[in-house]
Amino acid sequence: MLPFSVAFILIHLCCLFLLFHFSFSHSFCHPHDNLALLHFKASLTMNDDRYCDQVYPTIATWENGTDCCTWSGLKCDTISGHVTAIDLTCGGLKGQINANSTLFTLSHMQSLNLAFNDFSNSHIPSRIGQFAHLTHLNLSSSNFEGEIPPQISHLSKLQSLHLSCSGYHKLMWKEGTWKRMLQNATELRVLVLSFTDLSSTSMSSLNLSSSLITLSLRGTGLKGKLTDDILCLPNLQYLYLSYNFDLHAQLPSLSCSSASLNVLQISFCKFQGSIPPSFSNLTSLTLLDLSDNSLNGSIPSSHLTLPHLNVLLLYKNHLSGQIPNVFHQSNRFEKLNLRENNIQGELPSTISNLQHLIYLDISRNKLEGPLPNKIIGFSNLAMLFLTHNFLNGTIPSWCFSLPSLMYLYLSNNQFTGMSYCE
Ligand SMILES: *[C@@H]1O[C@H](CO)[C@@H](O)[C@H](O)[C@H]1NC(C)=O
Ligand SMILES: *[C@@H]1O[C@H](CO)[C@@H](O)[C@H](O)[C@H]1NC(C)=O
Ligand SMILES: *[C@@H]1O[C@H](CO)[C@@H](O)[C@H](O)[C@H]1NC(C)=O
Ligand SMILES: *[C@@H]1O[C@H](CO)[C@@H](O)[C@H](O)[C@H]1NC(C)=O
Ligand SMILES: *[C@@H]1O[C@H](CO)[C@@H](O)[C@H](O)[C@H]1NC(C)=O
Ligand SMILES: *[C@@H]1O[C@H](CO)[C@@H](O)[C@H](O)[C@H]1NC(C)=O
Ligand SMILES: *[C@@H]1O[C@H](CO)[C@@H](O)[C@H](O)[C@H]1NC(C)=O
Ligand SMILES: *[C@@H]1O[C@H](CO)[C@@H](O)[C@H](O)[C@H]1NC(C)=O
Repeated sequence: MLPFSVAFILIHLCCLFLLFHFSFSHSFCHPHDNLALLHFKASLTMNDDRYCDQVYPTIATWENGTDCCTWSGLKCDTISGHVTAIDLTCGGLKGQINANSTLFTLSHMQSLNLAFNDFSNSHIPSRIGQFAHLTHLNLSSSNFEGEIPPQISHLSKLQSLHLSCSGYHKLMWKEGTWKRMLQNATELRVLVLSFTDLSSTSMSSLNLSSSLITLSLRGTGLKGKLTDDILCLPNLQYLYLSYNFDLHAQLPSLSCSSASLNVLQISFCKFQGSIPPSFSNLTSLTLLDLSDNSLNGSIPSSHLTLPHLNVLLLYKNHLSGQIPNVFHQSNRFEKLNLRENNIQGELPSTISNLQHLIYLDISRNKLEGPLPNKIIGFSNLAMLFLTHNFLNGTIPSWCFSLPSLMYLYLSNNQFTGMSYCE
């Protein structure tokens, strides 16, 4: 028989072993990856004053002699110990990532996020195409520049790709690269390429994956005609196309009877002509932004009654006619901006039905006649802009008793005084 104390020690050791086994065996970093990451870290410098909107992982925790699977911003495969994900968003990283970076030897990578760092003077290395398992790639606002490597089209498993630039056109797409990428990455759900240079490609040649949920192509210099096959993509919920000055002429009519679009932003382009009535078939819209174009004609009343719409931005266009008097109490509008158009007639009486409205700007139009004497809602209205119209009569007392009102702008109208009591 073993003496009691020896048995005790053995049991103790056994427990220690079990503890060790359970806490490390499932995440013990593969030695190759451990070394590759240390070399990657050593190839960069770290800037401590990061301006992030939240706390992000930091490469500072990456220390030789510790298990890389415990380092911040990393995920490992629980069985092989290979690194599968790196997230160093806003990591304060500075330097260059070259073709010989050990980063590219991490062949099990599924998700790479280096957004909001400073890799100025680097191109995106062509070896990025070697990450055969990559499903998520985020290099937004990381100051890469130059041509996007053709090898990006090898990433056939991509589900999300973020390459937005913070300035205009630092990253450039060749048409062939762009087309092959779209052809191969058939599982793309999120494509955010704002302010990359797509001017070599035409809007009409886009063959976009039907699995797309988010598409952001703001300020890309896309040319040609916006066609409705994009608006009608079966799963697309968020479409951002603002700041594209070379898209021509008219907004397309929809050929689909319904679409899944939640958010549609096509502002600061140069669209002319009227808002297609068929846009009212976009019944899932919560936000419609067509501001700062050259749209004319009147505001289709069917757009003001879209069941889920809560933000409608049509400012800085040439819209005319009256504001349709169709507002229901069930409307969800929170923000309505019709500033700087040629809208005429009286303020529609039903507009005060809007219970959720926070922001109303109809200044710089040709509205005339009196403000409604009595209102029903407006209980959440915080900002009301009516300046530079031809509104007349007396300013009704409700203007001064709205419970949530913070800003009231009435100047440059033809009001003749205030009515203090009703
Ligand atoms: C890590 O530490 C070991 C031993 O302490 C050393 O031999 C090795 O060179 C170090 N590796 C790196 C990348 O610093
Ligand atoms: C990586 O390549 C750059 C030039 O592209 C070179 O200056 C550098 O020495 C290389 N680094 C290593 C570790 O080979
Ligand atoms: C990637 O970067 C974008 C900026 O374009 C950011 O908004 C987004 O949240 C990032 N995505 C992920 C998955 O971190
Ligand atoms: C498409 O993806 C596959 C698998 O990654 C790759 O072998 C092929 O070269 C890619 N095609 C193009 C045109 O990039
Ligand atoms: C568009 O892409 C799909 C699948 O990615 C393909 O089957 C189809 O042939 C392409 N169409 C054109 C016109 O390139
Ligand atoms: C909405 O779609 C339906 C079915 O395709 C169509 O009949 C109707 O004309 C469309 N509405 C508008 C305003 O185009
Ligand atoms: C709107 O503009 C287009 C082209 O700019 C013009 O042909 C059309 O007559 C205008 N329509 C209205 C109602 O002003
Ligand atoms: C207000 O203007 C309308 C025409 O725009 C005019 O018919 C009306 O008499 C004016 N009312 C007052 C009180 O000036």
